[in-house]
Amino acid sequence: MFHISTRSPSREELLNLVEEYGYVPLEPPQGIDLFAEIERLKREKNAILLAHYYQDADIQDIADFIGDSLGLSQKAAETDAEIIVFAGVHFMAETAKILNPTKKVLIPDLNAGCSLSDSCPPESFAAFKAQHPDHKVVSYINTSAAIKAMSDVIVTSSNAVPIVKALPSDWKIIFAPDKNLGQYVMKKTGRDMILWDGVCMVHTIFSYQKVLQMKRQYPEAELIAHPECEPAVLEQADFIGSTTALLNYVVKSPKKQFIVATESGILHQMRKAAPDKELIQAPAEYSCSCNTCPHMKLNTLEKIYNALLYEMPEVTLPPELIEAARRPIERMLEMSRELGLISKG
Ligand code: 13P
Ligand code: SF4
Repeated sequence: MFHISTRSPSREELLNLVEEYGYVPLEPPQGIDLFAEIERLKREKNAILLAHYYQDADIQDIADFIGDSLGLSQKAAETDAEIIVFAGVHFMAETAKILNPTKKVLIPDLNAGCSLSDSCPPESFAAFKAQHPDHKVVSYINTSAAIKAMSDVIVTSSNAVPIVKALPSDWKIIFAPDKNLGQYVMKKTGRDMILWDGVCMVHTIFSYQKVLQMKRQYPEAELIAHPECEPAVLEQADFIGSTTALLNYVVKSPKKQFIVATESGILHQMRKAAPDKELIQAPAEYSCSCNTCPHMKLNTLEKIYNALLYEMPEVTLPPELIEAARRPIERMLEMSRELGLISKG
C-alpha cells in the first residue's frame, strides 16, 4: 500500500500523490511508534482525531472521541481544535467541514466512501425531488453535501424517529437514501413517506434465515440490530438502535449473550465496556466477512499519521454548497437539543 520510501516531498508532489492515490502513500520512518507520533502531532498542531465506531480497534484506541454519526457531528460542531482528522468515511468528514468551514478537515483516505451515500447521486435525486414538488426532504446523514443541500432536515439513526415524529404534521415527506431506515421510521412514527431506494451494503447482508437459526441455537441471547438492516431481520430484533444505542444497550441489559447485527467494529467498544457479556456476530447471507465495512476499513494508523504530518488529504467544498448543506444539519442539531437527545452544549 505504501509504494514510496520516505524523503522530503514538496507540497506539489504531495498534492499529485493525493490526486493519484487518494491518500499520502509514503511509508512512515522505520521503527517509529505510530501511537506516540500521532499523539505528538495532535498536540503540536492542536488537532483532534474523531473516529466512528466502525474503525479498527487501534484507531478507536487513539481517537480523542469515538461515536456514532450524531455524536460525531455534535463533537465536530463544538470543537475548538484547529485541525479535525476524521477517521470515518467521506460524508462524515464533509459534515465536519460544513460545520467548521474555517477549519482544516483531514480525512486519512479520500477513497473511504459509502455505498449508501453513493446510491443517491445528486442529479437523479434532483429529478426525483422535482417529481414531488410539494414534498419536504428528510435525508439521512449518510449522503453527499449536494444531497444535504437539497434537504430540509438531516437525521441520523439516533434521532430519525423522534425528529420525523416532531415535524409539522402537514409536511409530505421524501426520505432518502436508506429505505430500510425509512421503513423503520414509518413504522415507528405512523407517518407515510416516499422512500429513495437505497441500502447499506453491510447492513443489508444479514440473513434473515441464518439469524433465525442462530436465535434457536442461542435461546438466551438477545438480537440487537441497527435500523439499516432489512425489515425481516428487524422484526426478529429485541432491540433496534444506532451504534451508540446498541453499545449502551449491551452495557445496561441484564442479559449475558447478544447476537449483534451491525458492522463488526462496534464489538471492540462493547467488549471494553462490558467484558462479561458474550457477543455473537449476526451471520451474513454468504460465508464472508461482509459485516465489515470496506470503506471504513480503508483508514489505517499509517494514513492517519501521514494526514497529520502533511496535512492532507484535505476536505474542501465550495462556500455556496457549505452554506446550503449547513442549514438542514443545524436544524437537526437544534431539534436534537430541543428533544433532549443531545446536550444543550
Ligand atoms: P450510526 O453511526 O448512526 O450508528 O450509523 C451507522 C453507519 O452506518 C454509519 O455509516
Ligand atoms: Fe456506508 Fe454502510 Fe459503510 Fe456505514 S456501514 S459507511 S452506511 S457502507
